[in-house]
Amino acid sequence: MIPYAEVIGDPVAHSKSPLIHRFWLEALGQSGDYRAVHVRPDDLPAYFITRAEDTEWRGCNVTVPHKVAALDLVTDPAGVRKTIGAINTVLREPDGTLVGTNTDAAGFAAPIATLALTGRHVTVVGAGGAARAVLFALARLGVERITLMNRTPLRAAGLLADFGLSGDVVPLDAPLAPTTALLVNTSSLGMSGQPSLDLDLSPLADDAVVYDIVYAPLETPLLAAARARGLATVDGLDMLVGQAAVAFELFFGAAPTRECDAELRSLLT
Ligand code: ATR
Repeated sequence: MIPYAEVIGDPVAHSKSPLIHRFWLEALGQSGDYRAVHVRPDDLPAYFITRAEDTEWRGCNVTVPHKVAALDLVTDPAGVRKTIGAINTVLREPDGTLVGTNTDAAGFAAPIATLALTGRHVTVVGAGGAARAVLFALARLGVERITLMNRTPLRAAGLLADFGLSGDVVPLDAPLAPTTALLVNTSSLGMSGQPSLDLDLSPLADDAVVYDIVYAPLETPLLAAARARGLATVDGLDMLVGQAAVAFELFFGAAPTRECDAELRSLLT
């Protein structure tokens, strides 16, 4: 018997998590396995009951559509329900207790750890579940002011207060502020099959960074425009690998690099 972890979702076949975790298991010479399991919403309680009894099961990553529903089936010692509002990782304690956590915020922060954002101004596009993890991370990084851009400004109105952040909420056609140190897209705009996010990047300073958390496709129109403008960029694969690295360490007790190095990137693209 070897320790193992899983990713659960509906659908789940497209998940890159098995590739990432298996890559690290091999690279670190770690005994373990990681696989994708298709779990339908009705089967979620039974899945957790079965796994809670399995001493080899270290936990699972949770993807769409289970990220909120799974919270009701596990303990929440870190209070994720009140902050990010969704979990992406469940861990099994030795006594069988299932603990929910969220590694998306840490995964988002990993690739921008060297950007001194304390006291800076960040513009965030989108106000859904992904935006909550990003705002949680930005608050922890000491960001001073947020401009939240959303198609439906009303939906975004309470979001900044939830994270103790100050700033303003504007529609998607508002001009970008030249003080923006980091521009982040958390919306579904730019994903395959969705309209692109068309922002005029010309007001941004030359040292501004553009971060798109979309990873299908990797080269979104936003990132292409940022590169054409000569700006540094961070893509969705960086965040995906960052959140996986935090989960891997929790599952298997060994720490991979949180960066998406060239070998892993070529495996995933
Ligand atoms: P997630 O949990 O992945 O963040 P979500 O909660 O559905 O997904 O949020 C999607 C985000 O993308 C929202 O900010 C949404 O804007 P609204 O709050 O106005 O719905 C944004 N979004 C999705 N499709 C969009 C579109 N066609 N045009 C503009 N914004 C869009």
